[in-house]
Amino acid sequence: NEVDLDAILAFAINLAQDAGKMIRDGQAKRFASEAASEDAKLNSVDLVTEVDKAVQEFIEKAISEAYPEHKFIGEETYAGEKITDAPTWIIDPIDGTTNFIHGFPMVCTSIGLAHKGVPVVGVIYNPFMDQLYSAAKGRGAYLNQTQKLPLTGKAKPLLSLGHALIGVEYGSNRLSPGLPSKVRTFQTLAADVKEGGKMAHSLRSLGSAAINIAVVASGGLDMYWEIGCWPWDVTAGICILHEAGGAVFGSKTSSLSGDVDADLIAGRKYLLMRGMAPAEGETALQTQQR
Ligand code: IPD
Repeated sequence: NEVDLDAILAFAINLAQDAGKMIRDGQAKRFASEAASEDAKLNSVDLVTEVDKAVQEFIEKAISEAYPEHKFIGEETYAGEKITDAPTWIIDPIDGTTNFIHGFPMVCTSIGLAHKGVPVVGVIYNPFMDQLYSAAKGRGAYLNQTQKLPLTGKAKPLLSLGHALIGVEYGSNRLSPGLPSKVRTFQTLAADVKEGGKMAHSLRSLGSAAINIAVVASGGLDMYWEIGCWPWDVTAGICILHEAGGAVFGSKTSSLSGDVDADLIAGRKYLLMRGMAPAEGETALQTQQR
């Protein structure tokens, strides 16, 4: 069966653990990579290391041997492939590359499988913290295969912004007009909500979109907000978040308004957005691709 989710989940967990070993073993290379400025893509903040490439090659080869009929989209070789209805592996060999280079331990491999445009398997493994988040559609989400997510028990009751711990990221693109929008939103969330509104408990920035989403799924963050994620940053995370009872939203605008509670959270507590609303019938993953 081309989409035997249990078999695919077990395969993806093994793959992520093997990739994690490569990442740990590759630690020594990270400082050398940092100096190799010709390896910087987009700008100097978005660094590609030799380890990223080696881990992606390893994962892509293993998938093509085990599931030759499946499609593959990986961060390191992305050439504009669209997500179709076909089973498609969408992977980021190292999410949190900047953390990896600096030795900040929020680093993971993110392995997702989308079928009919919907994430159906997700594995996020942080080899430095030895934390493995995994889920398959209809089977729940787990930390280290044994602890059911969210770790806080059942999903927390819906909270207002005033009770929320929120993950945000600057992202790798700091160009205008994106940056001012992001900064406006951080201010809106942290200190500038309209009169009568509440400011968030606090903001956190972990430096890996996949880990931010996994932590929302486990209950440590109430919400994650970012503009500019790519499908490989979010496919595995969306599956894990959904299985943990979370939700993913887009937005009509690229920055949050002062009326965050009313306009956007709209009674729900998780928000993962790329600055635009899903079109009619569009999955969150397809929205990420526009
Ligand atoms: C990036 C990280 C970062 C997020 C960016 C991502 P990379 O992925 O997840 O936290 O802000 O949007 O592209 O480059 O480390 O794989």
